[in-house]
Amino acid sequence: MLTFDYTHMMSDVIGDRCGITEAELERFCGPVAKIDEQLRAAYDKGELPFYDLPFQKGVKAIVELADDLAGRFDNLLVLGIGGSALGTTAVATALLPTHWNLLSTESRAGRPRLFVLDNVDPAGIEGTLSLLEPERTCFCVISKSGTTVETMSQFLFAREWIKNAVGDKYKDHFVMITDPETGVLRQLVDDEGYRSCSVPPGVGGRFSVFTAVGLLPLAATGVDIEKLLAGAATISPQLRSPDLFANPAYLNGVLQYVAFGKGMPISVMMPYSDQLRDVADWYSQLWAESLGKKMDLNGKSVHTGPTPVKALGATDQHSQLQLYMEGPFDKVVTFLATDGMADTVIPAAPDIPELDYLGGQSFASLLASEQRATAVALARAGRPNCTIHLNEFGPEAVGALLFLFEVQTVFAGALFGVDPLDQPGVEAGKNLTYGFMGRPGFASFREEVEDWEKLIKTRALVVD
Ligand code: PA5
Repeated sequence: MLTFDYTHMMSDVIGDRCGITEAELERFCGPVAKIDEQLRAAYDKGELPFYDLPFQKGVKAIVELADDLAGRFDNLLVLGIGGSALGTTAVATALLPTHWNLLSTESRAGRPRLFVLDNVDPAGIEGTLSLLEPERTCFCVISKSGTTVETMSQFLFAREWIKNAVGDKYKDHFVMITDPETGVLRQLVDDEGYRSCSVPPGVGGRFSVFTAVGLLPLAATGVDIEKLLAGAATISPQLRSPDLFANPAYLNGVLQYVAFGKGMPISVMMPYSDQLRDVADWYSQLWAESLGKKMDLNGKSVHTGPTPVKALGATDQHSQLQLYMEGPFDKVVTFLATDGMADTVIPAAPDIPELDYLGGQSFASLLASEQRATAVALARAGRPNCTIHLNEFGPEAVGALLFLFEVQTVFAGALFGVDPLDQPGVEAGKNLTYGFMGRPGFASFREEVEDWEKLIKTRALVVD
């Protein structure tokens, strides 16, 4: 289903400056086996329930709810942010036909358009809603904590918008996806009787694409979520192998970690596929929020973590590649490549001799040639890169790819010595925002900042 090619990471291919030796990798076999044991112990204690998601029962109920929504609505809006939004966007872009929302109802097989509102910019919110008929619109309000300010403010706006159009029946236009017990959203479900799905306890936002968080909106648009999960389930045994050289999640985790230690903290994710472009966005959040930490597991201040950067091939060859080729030796590039692209052929042009070499070749082969050329050029310039190839593009391969990255991330957390499941830095920002917006109980966060702002010297330049 997938091929992980790490040839261009190795020193005998790209040289000693950034390359990694077999001996360096072999030294990790022992530590990797130990980390594997720790992960198994954590799993046995119920601390890593995301491992079970590919095998979950209850998918049928999600599909039934999704089909019901699809039958009643033309538009599905996800209100969510971060891990509550990025997985849906990544899979939808990968598996729905291009420009899904512009297709006719017939071409969408009667399935709804999908909008993911993951920001609180009024231009985005109003601009989107102004295009839609409230009577034909459903909102999936997704928040694990059930309190996140961006999502809750969007919900209030959406509720008013729907109420103004349909009156008392407004609740029929909402499905809440949240924690089974805690948070305002759960409280609303319990008190007011909205339809809802639960995010399993212990599954955090960025590991939740295989829960109702991703599965419900995706199934509503007709994505085959059973195949998505089947792909993750198929790759699961290999991702649980303690053998470093058999497990692509562990192997890529070690390669990225060794590269980080050799002065390459920037991890570029570069799909050569428009359909996979948002996987890079999802991966960036997963990698950044899981590994970017102040404290290690022993409570020591370490300020560690690789910096993910997303790029798109071939587009960013004309934007970023110059830097990757000749700038600082501080990056590892991971390419995503895929088979199964449309067989669109470039027409022959005997009237333009300079371009006629292209005639009869496909865009897919052009894109594949560009990816190969970039990978080789980087390697020959001593720049480490690896390629994950989706051998048969489809829901199974996409499910396998996302699951691989989830396991790689949890494993990398152990290598970096940090907790990949928490996000204290995000929480700090959330608390301050609550303070600024006047949420009861959070005034002290605002006051602390206001006191600090009185002490500092402000410097700003106004340009008229
Ligand atoms: O991955 C995470 O845990 C975060 O990105 C959250 O998904 C994000 O902060 C939104 O939180 P919530 O789902 O609680 O609204």
